[in-house]
Amino acid sequence: MAGKIPTHFIDELLNRVDVVDVINRRVPLKKTGREYQACCPFHDEKTPSFTVSPQKQFYHCFGCGVHGSAIGFIMEYDNLGFVEAVEELAQSAGLEVPREDGINQGPDLRPLYALMEAAGHFYRRQLKHHPDSGQAINYLKSRGLSGEIAATFGIGYAPQGWDNLLSALGKDKTTLAQLLECGLTNEGEGKRYDRFRNRIIFPIRDPRGRIIGFGGRVIGDDKPKYLNSPETPLFHKGRELYGLHEARRANSKIERLLVVEGYMDVVALAQHGILNAVATLGTATTHDHLELIFRTCPEVVFCFDGDRAGNDAAWKALLTSLPLMQDGREVKFLFLPEGEDPDTQVRKEGNDAFTQRIEQAQPLSQFLFHQLTHQVQMESIDGRAKLAQLARPHLEKLPSGVFRQMMFQHLEELVGIKGSHLDTGHQQATQSKRGRVNQQNQRPTPVRMAIALLLDSPHLLAIAESVDNDWQNWDAPGINILNRLLEIIRSQPTLNKAALLERWRDSEHFPHLNKLANYRFDLPDMDQEAELRDALLRLNQQFHKSIRPQTGNLRPSELSEDQLKALKQRYPGTISQDES
Ligand code: UTP
Ligand code: MN
Repeated sequence: MAGKIPTHFIDELLNRVDVVDVINRRVPLKKTGREYQACCPFHDEKTPSFTVSPQKQFYHCFGCGVHGSAIGFIMEYDNLGFVEAVEELAQSAGLEVPREDGINQGPDLRPLYALMEAAGHFYRRQLKHHPDSGQAINYLKSRGLSGEIAATFGIGYAPQGWDNLLSALGKDKTTLAQLLECGLTNEGEGKRYDRFRNRIIFPIRDPRGRIIGFGGRVIGDDKPKYLNSPETPLFHKGRELYGLHEARRANSKIERLLVVEGYMDVVALAQHGILNAVATLGTATTHDHLELIFRTCPEVVFCFDGDRAGNDAAWKALLTSLPLMQDGREVKFLFLPEGEDPDTQVRKEGNDAFTQRIEQAQPLSQFLFHQLTHQVQMESIDGRAKLAQLARPHLEKLPSGVFRQMMFQHLEELVGIKGSHLDTGHQQATQSKRGRVNQQNQRPTPVRMAIALLLDSPHLLAIAESVDNDWQNWDAPGINILNRLLEIIRSQPTLNKAALLERWRDSEHFPHLNKLANYRFDLPDMDQEAELRDALLRLNQQFHKSIRPQTGNLRPSELSEDQLKALKQRYPGTISQDES
């Protein structure tokens, strides 16, 4: 990665783009008064509670609580990292993203992305124009693929020979080194040669659509059947999902994703109009994969062969899913007839029948209990006790919530001892959760209130300045954030809520601040100025109370001159002359 993106650029970017535009291009908005509204793209709802404020350049959903700047929206909606989201926005605004030159500056990956793109282009061209491409085209046709689908997935062809790509792209020393770094060429006995030879080429894209790797399939029955890009600075197998970018492009909103095993499964399903399949790249589904999926949609259906290996793979996927089963998320399992994969099955029976299978997939709960009850003798007490023992460690991996409760409840029913509190971790979990909820409903502490108000309405700075707000060296929680916030608003009074929040993006305090950005103050019956003044006055009281005891045990003669001066200023008349 290149150096850090300078703060001034983030300010400028958020000033140039309009969050209303950015969102409206993805989720059509309706104007209502000063704000814009839509049904929230991040949760299911019938009446709109998602609002966008042009003035604050901020979006907020009353229903599910999502909120943030234009950058935050792109991160959530397009499923991108911060840097990627900034790049995406900058591109749409016609701005170049500048970089600070830091000591920790990573390598600039842009040339590598460009090279992968060029390679993708090369392979596609070979599929069209190479004299030997006939066999590749015939092969694709024999597997039921149309030219249109091949184009959608950017499928290409690497011809026979050791240096087709090398001589097409390796024009100088730098590119030759980059070809190697991207895994497009190999090196052996001092010689460079093309990695992919005489293979059908599947480009693997990241969620933004950039090519990060390739998979190459032999045309026929040679071994290895598939050759993939190695781990490179761009490509990390355990994190990428083949077909995710294409699925996002094909659907305005993805309701569920289907996880399959192979490239050909994704492409064949798309050929039959099932446009929401993604494939792990020859690896088991990882935690990273699942997080990527759940950032896209709330439901995932794992699709496996109905044989022993498929069953084992499904169980592994279940174990990986457990800690991620927050309420509202669904994981299901679809087992195909033995020996079939989604490619062969959908070609056999078509869209409708296959879609029906997806609809009837087994929920995680069912699969889990089914697997476990088959390992014990449910008719005997001992067997049922064993079941409890087998199930508990798995259920304990579930995050607290209704789903977890219901899973434990079901286990109790199966075992036949209701209300036995098999979930020992549960009480604690719900208690601490309740604690958090209460905290949210309670009136925020003065420091939280002040930060939230100033973040939401930076023009209230004037109010803040009318109160004594000099709390340097006070180390109460949140004070340094408040000080910094005041400092920023003083020096740049025109920054809006979005830009202010982004100032903390890289900071350890971001999660706190982001939470505070969720408080709503534009309620008609709320006097923001009075609230802020009140919060700051209460803060000053706390400050005086806390600073006094620090020096209170010392006699004035034992204090330094600075401390004395500070005390006298704070408490005029409380320290008599003869005392000092
Ligand atoms: P499969 O053998 O199920 O692939 O392997 P497939 O897509 O069904 O293949 P065909 O074309 O229909 O015969 C599933 C996935 O495992 C990885 C690939 O990602 C493949 O899509 N794999 C498989 C490899 O990486 N190398 C191999 O040699 C085989
Ligand atoms: Mn297959």
